[in-house]
Amino acid sequence: LKYWVIIPAAGVGKRMQASCPKQYLPLGSGTILQQTLNIFLDNEQFSGVLLLLSPEDEYFTGLNIRNPKLMIANGGKERCDSVLNGLQQLSILADDDDWVLVHDAARPCLSDQDLQKLLDALPESDGAILAAPVMDTIKQATNQNAAEIDKTVDRSMLWRALTPQAFRVGQLRQALTQALQQKITVTDDASAMEAAGYSVKLVSGRSDNIKITSPEDLDLAQWILEKRLS
Ligand code: CTP
Ligand code: MG
Repeated sequence: LKYWVIIPAAGVGKRMQASCPKQYLPLGSGTILQQTLNIFLDNEQFSGVLLLLSPEDEYFTGLNIRNPKLMIANGGKERCDSVLNGLQQLSILADDDDWVLVHDAARPCLSDQDLQKLLDALPESDGAILAAPVMDTIKQATNQNAAEIDKTVDRSMLWRALTPQAFRVGQLRQALTQALQQKITVTDDASAMEAAGYSVKLVSGRSDNIKITSPEDLDLAQWILEKRLS
């Protein structure tokens, strides 16, 4: 039984408003993407890391990353298309029963401890995701323009879905294929598994495993990583 990793990195980073896709912005001693890749490439438990890049990507070759464990394939229109394409490619190498972890390129602050916690939760499960309990009071608006509060939502059972999210290669491939065929909105990989009837474990992870989305997140990520090294 092997463990594989899929890193979707085919987005354009529209909300970051930078001159290049956000995964190529500098962070620490390299770029966001390099920091994220190193978490998995440096970990001996993984048999291979499959990186999904945009077919128009002009930046990756400039990073000069050479690692026998790293493989590259084309991403798709949406994140879920990138992941599904990765799973199809991975199925050439992997067994359907192997585990695959899907992790956003834009989450370079994942800690080794959380990663291990997720792996430890996998045996005898359909899969597991890192998640953080919701800490803020959550308001439901009267309409999508958020003009007024309709009510306060009970947050005691609410979690924020983070990555990595880990499932069996074959089951995730089938669940995602089905979800895309049925035009179910899948904003993360677990939603496809939920729609297919699997039970997915929530593994409580650190809230500093942030997804770098807008410019202010970059300073925060820099600080999180520096703090961890000191
Ligand atoms: N991603 C991908 N393929 C896509 C869209 C997104 O592989 N078609 C990846 C991104 O590169 C990112 C992860 O999925 O690592 C999470 O997506 P998000 O944070 O939304 O990144 P972007 O889509 O690049 O950003 P934005 O939505 O602001 O354009
Ligand atoms: Mg996006």
